[in-house]
Amino acid sequence: MNDAPIGIFDSGVGGLTVARAIQDQLPNESVLYVGDTAHSPYGPKPIADVRRFSLEVLDDLIAQGVKMIVIACNTASSAMLRDARERYSVPVIEVIQPAVRTAVTTTRNHKIGVIGTEGTVNSRAYQDAFAAAPDLEIVTQACPRFVEFVEAGVTTGEEVMAVAHEYLQPLKEAGVDTLVLGCTHYPFLKGVISYVMGPNVTLVSSDTETANDVYRTLVSRGIERSAATPPEHVYEATGDSREDFLDLAHRLIGREISTVNLVQTGAIDLASLQAALREGES
Ligand code: DGL
Repeated sequence: MNDAPIGIFDSGVGGLTVARAIQDQLPNESVLYVGDTAHSPYGPKPIADVRRFSLEVLDDLIAQGVKMIVIACNTASSAMLRDARERYSVPVIEVIQPAVRTAVTTTRNHKIGVIGTEGTVNSRAYQDAFAAAPDLEIVTQACPRFVEFVEAGVTTGEEVMAVAHEYLQPLKEAGVDTLVLGCTHYPFLKGVISYVMGPNVTLVSSDTETANDVYRTLVSRGIERSAATPPEHVYEATGDSREDFLDLAHRLIGREISTVNLVQTGAIDLASLQAALREGES
């Protein structure tokens, strides 16, 4: 069980920002990553659909024997975190609480902005998560096109800059000094967002702090990977254009992503994936 991979999931490439932080902080752990590209983007979809799609992917990860689940998607977490925690016996880690914790300790003027998908913003999941910290002003803003840009591999340029100005202006006017990137795709746009918000606004993303939560949970449950052999990382997408997903993933996170011939989610067989991966490496 300890040698089993950590299952990480997002609608697309956004969760790779979290996977990367986990791999950086826990280089001995194996990762099985799934991007639900067949149903991406989640942001504009009804919450019931996001819940159903997410649970299907998570059921699959569980069937493949992952020892922990990381819901590396704010929209999915807003829609089904409680269900996932009830449904599975393995620990379920998510990204909203870690971002909120970091933002609370970062802000100086107690005005915090949160940007996310329509699903996340409409769910008020962040307002709920901030409710325990008194005297904060929380300003939220949906930025639906940001996910489109990242999924198209566009992280800079005039169009994304113009859209960023439009989305972020209300947050600048509100005088927030801390901005939570409440969507795991957004760290890929950090350059643009930081440029528009200016140097006095601190951007908070959940990746590093989520990786801390993963480590704390592995240690407290005694399920760290002990094997001295190198870990194995597998990346999967549920949609048809799997090669495009792997190319984009490689480009965005700047490290080699194994391109093995994988089967669709619904029938992922971890043992054969790992065998294929080993074959590809030899
Ligand atoms: N990366 C996901 C999140 O953190 C959402 C992207 C989407 O709209 O599918 O919310």
